[in-house]
Amino acid sequence: MTTQIQDQIQARRTFAIISHPDAGKTTMTEKLLFFGGAIRDAGTVKAKKTGKFATSDWMEIEKQRGISVTSSVMQFDYDDCRINILDTPGHQDFSEDTYRTLMAVDSAVMIVDAAKGIEAQTIKLFKVCRLRGIPIFTFINKLDRQGKEPLELMEELEEVLGIESYAMNWPIGMGKEFLGIYDRFNNRIEQFRKDGTDRFLPLTEDGGLAVDHSMKKTSYYTQALDDIMLLNEAGNDFDQEKVKNGKMTPVFFGSALTNFGVQTFLETYLQFAPTPQPRKTDADVEINPVTDEFSGFIFKIQANMNPAHRDRIAFVRIVSGKFERGMTVTLSRTGKTFKLTQSTQFLADERETVETAVAGDIIGLHDTGSYQIGDTIVGGKKTFSYEKLPQFTPELFVRVTAKNVMKSKHFNKGIMQLVQEGAIQYYKTLHTEDVILGAVGQLQFEVFEHRMKNEYNVDVRMEPIGNKIARWIQNEGDVKESMSSPRSMLVRDRYDRYVFLFENDFAMRWFHDKNDNIELFSLL
Ligand code: G4P
Repeated sequence: MTTQIQDQIQARRTFAIISHPDAGKTTMTEKLLFFGGAIRDAGTVKAKKTGKFATSDWMEIEKQRGISVTSSVMQFDYDDCRINILDTPGHQDFSEDTYRTLMAVDSAVMIVDAAKGIEAQTIKLFKVCRLRGIPIFTFINKLDRQGKEPLELMEELEEVLGIESYAMNWPIGMGKEFLGIYDRFNNRIEQFRKDGTDRFLPLTEDGGLAVDHSMKKTSYYTQALDDIMLLNEAGNDFDQEKVKNGKMTPVFFGSALTNFGVQTFLETYLQFAPTPQPRKTDADVEINPVTDEFSGFIFKIQANMNPAHRDRIAFVRIVSGKFERGMTVTLSRTGKTFKLTQSTQFLADERETVETAVAGDIIGLHDTGSYQIGDTIVGGKKTFSYEKLPQFTPELFVRVTAKNVMKSKHFNKGIMQLVQEGAIQYYKTLHTEDVILGAVGQLQFEVFEHRMKNEYNVDVRMEPIGNKIARWIQNEGDVKESMSSPRSMLVRDRYDRYVFLFENDFAMRWFHDKNDNIELFSLL
């Protein structure tokens, strides 16, 4: 491999932003794109999050602001880095794809609303990152509004998420009294709503302001200094190794909307964010990104992304080597070879045909039904497969039938293909073998219904059976089918494993009290 390609790989930073809806992910993305020069105006996003198939917040930015960004992946350059941001759809778009996207990044940026603290969706996404042991950087947003005390927020991070934290900077005041941030990492104070040279104020060795300034007389400044002293004495020390392993999160404060603290965050983040990481095969061999052989895996398949194209795109995370359009690759699962002529890259401007890309990048491949989620493609002669992507525990369930019983052949075919593709999870009841579908988010059902009609010509009837807690069984041999009840329904998954669908926590505990020999477990 030439040093030029090696350098290109080392310059890649591939991450996702995780947050609860409304914490500011879209706003933050827009500001980052602005710094990267990918868009001209970093104004306020007033995204109306309506529309059933609004596939991404970025598409909303596109519509609202008349700028052309593409959903799912954004790429831009900053300093000497090439940055790939992967969208993790939330709101009504939350689905297993959101989780799977986290399998394709090397780090995550977690946005927390200062007034709300750690919220439900953030916890779910955090857990997936945590399991992968990837670095997580925290941006506490909306400091221009009154929020929780910063020390309380730090405590929440440690207690709710169980991750050590290190404040890279600290707010001075908040809301109407927000004066700026005390930047522990860069040894300066960054003033809020100040442009130009006096935006940054230097600190002395003792940690106080080195210049005369009216801020010094405020209680907010004194409070910030007290807090910093407390953090220095009783807080965690910054530990780069822990950051690298996802055991410690560097915390930044700011306000995405007013574009405050975002650039400081970006620059500091880039110093610590990992370059493309190696990945393990299912034979436990680690593949280094800087190798000659091209390889990658499919983490998402999106149908009808653009109604004008009516196509499917398979998203590939390149793990090693270099992609060149027209190259021949082997799909490891089937051994089939393909020439990759139709490839898409995601730049600020529409979908463009990509000629080359390297490890760390995401490319989109035109898919006519050959690919499945989790598939590996390799450029060399020796094929291998990357470790399986995890299956996630669904929370929503529906019972599904074909409206027209004469269509049952198409119905079964459609379900099997969509299940294999990873669009939805399949379960069946015992004896009657009713089909039950499980999903992480409502959108998966809507997409399923839409695709069954459009691709398989089957109208389906879906009867919601609501939220359930799904648990698999360690010692299947001890399960008796008589244990099934309306509140703890026993079903089988697509691999024929037993699964209990509990109505709620109470039903699960009750079951456990009665059957303490049954060992239950959840997927991710
Ligand atoms: P999301 O993608 O995470 O869902 O959040 P998004 O960026 O869309 O932001 C949600 C709302 O929060 C937006 O208000 C946005 O302007 C606001 N917001 C984002 N960052 C900040 C910040 O730093 N300070 C303040 N004060 N507000 C911020 P919106 O579009 O008006 O919607 P809404 O407020 O009516 O819900």
